[in-house]
Amino acid sequence: MSGPPTSDADSAIEIDPQVLDEDGSSFADFTEELDDFTTSINSSISRYPFENGRRYHAFKPGAYPLPNDDVELDRLNVVHHMIKKALGDKLVLAPFENVHRVLDVGTGTGIWAMEMGDAHPEAEFLGNDLSPVQPSWVPPNVHFEVDDIESRWAFGAPFDFVFSRTLPCAVGDWPGLVSQAYRNVKPGGWVEFQDVDMVFYAEDGSYSPSSDTALWVHLLVGAARTAGKEPCPGPRLEQWVRDAGFANVVHQKFKLPLGPWPRDARQKEIGLFNLVQAIDSLEAFSMRLFTQVLHWSPEEVQVLCAKVRTELKNKSSHRMWDYHVVYGQRPTA
Ligand SMILES: C[S@@+](CC[C@H](N)C(=O)[O-])C[C@H]1O[C@@H](n2cnc3c(N)ncnc32)[C@H](O)[C@@H]1O
Repeated sequence: MSGPPTSDADSAIEIDPQVLDEDGSSFADFTEELDDFTTSINSSISRYPFENGRRYHAFKPGAYPLPNDDVELDRLNVVHHMIKKALGDKLVLAPFENVHRVLDVGTGTGIWAMEMGDAHPEAEFLGNDLSPVQPSWVPPNVHFEVDDIESRWAFGAPFDFVFSRTLPCAVGDWPGLVSQAYRNVKPGGWVEFQDVDMVFYAEDGSYSPSSDTALWVHLLVGAARTAGKEPCPGPRLEQWVRDAGFANVVHQKFKLPLGPWPRDARQKEIGLFNLVQAIDSLEAFSMRLFTQVLHWSPEEVQVLCAKVRTELKNKSSHRMWDYHVVYGQRPTA
């Protein structure tokens, strides 16, 4: 029988007397040691700053303008269900086969990676994010780590599939990010980028460019770009993916109604999900950007958000925005 490759494999490991109970008869519980250890490694990345009543990420502070508190995590899960419904109950559209290693870039709550992990027990899923907000009870093939996706990627082995979803106002250098995905996916492997265009519109002229909603979107897009973060990556994904060198590139666009105004039952449900998340997104997107970039007071931000909230609930405007899905394959030669 072959043992582990250590020189003292046959000798017993000595027990630290401090882990024995007072009478020496049974082992103490390690809960305290585990708690101390995880607290010390996690404290710097989870010592979250609070601003204007919202909680933000602590690793690379200031890199991302949206909060990471429970209200925001609930919103991300609503967005997840909305997008899945819009894509025909699919989590991904790329036609990959035989995946073993998958990366979810900027994983958020990790819900995509966890559902994919359940659906593909043969593959390992890694999700990374600035915030360690993912649950600890996850499928055994799903792992999360804290990382800055705009830093140089340093993974031990390439992936079969790299996925990224809804990163508006998160990324400064999109061509750089897509190129890192290219370098970190195997030849023959796939990437998929799904992202938004935050500009709202209506097909029947019921969205007024002089509305408070249009003003909020205009200010937000400007503030995010001033801060160096692209708020509307969706329409530009295809070009970035082609420029990075991917082949077999496919671009699909989905209209997402904002409110339950469509007649079609599926679109109506998508619209309801979208309205719920949009109402919660107003302060999430604009509080930091408007106070720090536009130098508004928090109260001014709240007043505009309240006006937009009222407009969004108004049934007479048939607003929507576009969601873009782009996938491509790294050539084999
Ligand atoms: C809108 S959420 C989307 C989360 C997830 N992709 C999804 O679709 O459910 C954007 C996520 O990107 C993360 N993020 C933003 N900038 C990042 C960066 N530079 N490095 C890593 N994660 C980042 C945020 O912390 C947040 O969890």
